[in-house]
Amino acid sequence: MKTTLEAMRGEFPLLANKTYLNSGSYCALANDVKRAFEAYMDDRLAVGANWDVWVAKNEAVRGLVARLLHARPDEIAVTASVSAGLNAIASAIDFSGPRNKVVISDFEFPTNAQIWHAQEPRNAEVVHVRADESGYIPLEQFERAIDDRTALVAVTHVCFRNGAKLDIEGIGRIARARGAKILFDCYQSVGSVDIDVTSMEVDFLVGGMLKYLLGTAGIGFLYVRDALVRELLPTHTGWFAQENITAMDITANRPSPTARRFEAGTPPVVNCYAAEAGLELLLSIGTPAIEARIRELTRRCIERLAAIGWPTVTPRDDNRRGATVAIPSRDSAGLADALMKRDIVTSYRDANVRASFHFYNNDQDIDALITALDALKPRFAPQG
Ligand SMILES: Cc1ncc(COP(=O)(O)O)c(C=O)c1O
Repeated sequence: MKTTLEAMRGEFPLLANKTYLNSGSYCALANDVKRAFEAYMDDRLAVGANWDVWVAKNEAVRGLVARLLHARPDEIAVTASVSAGLNAIASAIDFSGPRNKVVISDFEFPTNAQIWHAQEPRNAEVVHVRADESGYIPLEQFERAIDDRTALVAVTHVCFRNGAKLDIEGIGRIARARGAKILFDCYQSVGSVDIDVTSMEVDFLVGGMLKYLLGTAGIGFLYVRDALVRELLPTHTGWFAQENITAMDITANRPSPTARRFEAGTPPVVNCYAAEAGLELLLSIGTPAIEARIRELTRRCIERLAAIGWPTVTPRDDNRRGATVAIPSRDSAGLADALMKRDIVTSYRDANVRASFHFYNNDQDIDALITALDALKPRFAPQG
């Protein structure tokens, strides 16, 4: 499999010029995805407004996301962003009764905190689960926070700041036992790990196409467990969320009986072309193989960092780590910049540079990173 993955590097022209360790921000562009954008442009020039084809593209993305998550197409909403999916769910939850708590964690991406805090005028109470002194959030912290007043536990799978992966199976068990609904924000994991919504027994799952799904910005998805779809009535809605999109009925709101009820307006058509191509490429490899390769690469990166005396803030335990290795620095912006000058693309958050790995990375990428860091140590290694 390693050789097959190595051979696929040729499909990502950027990799010929850069050590690309930035898939946690934005994936490298694949030839197939570039061609998909071009196909949209060709269609615009040749046909103009090819609505039937465009709607079919949206449905193709729905079907591919369902395959990826081991879900059914009727359980998938194709959204413009993770934020759009979260807002649709938030609008459908009633916080007026005694079950008004939303439990989130210290590891959330801002949007999965801000949107729940935005429900406070609707009587929602947002509870933050804190990391411990080691920087991780063990299950006991969730045990303490989730109770019979909890409406929803909405947590990230992998933390965008430090690459730590939460025990979402454990969190799910606690939430279910206390009658709370469960939402996982999988934007930092989907495409880099195998996700099966059925075995996870999750109620809602959100993600997008920009990172490990090899697609583009401006398109995401929301999974809603079948049994909940018709129980929830979003007030964040629009004409593409209706049962009959072409009815053009202005007398009533008649939501689709499927998860399409959580969509809103005109689909992000050009992004559907790119997302379809990215998902097809990813599924042709398979997420179990990708997960195994990324685990190997991140493990080796952490070991090599230790060998040059550079600590990391990402857990060493394979089960507690996603695709990102977070490297602390006394000047993380300066370090990312210095690496970029050596054609090594990373990103930074807080005091850490983030090196994120996908199946198209290899051992030479780690060599390049470590050689550069070793040379940059006097200026950028953390103090003390
Ligand atoms: C974990 C996580 N959730 C949500 C988002 C943002 O999602 P969107 O911009 O699609 O709303 C990001 C973006 O980086 C993310 O890493």
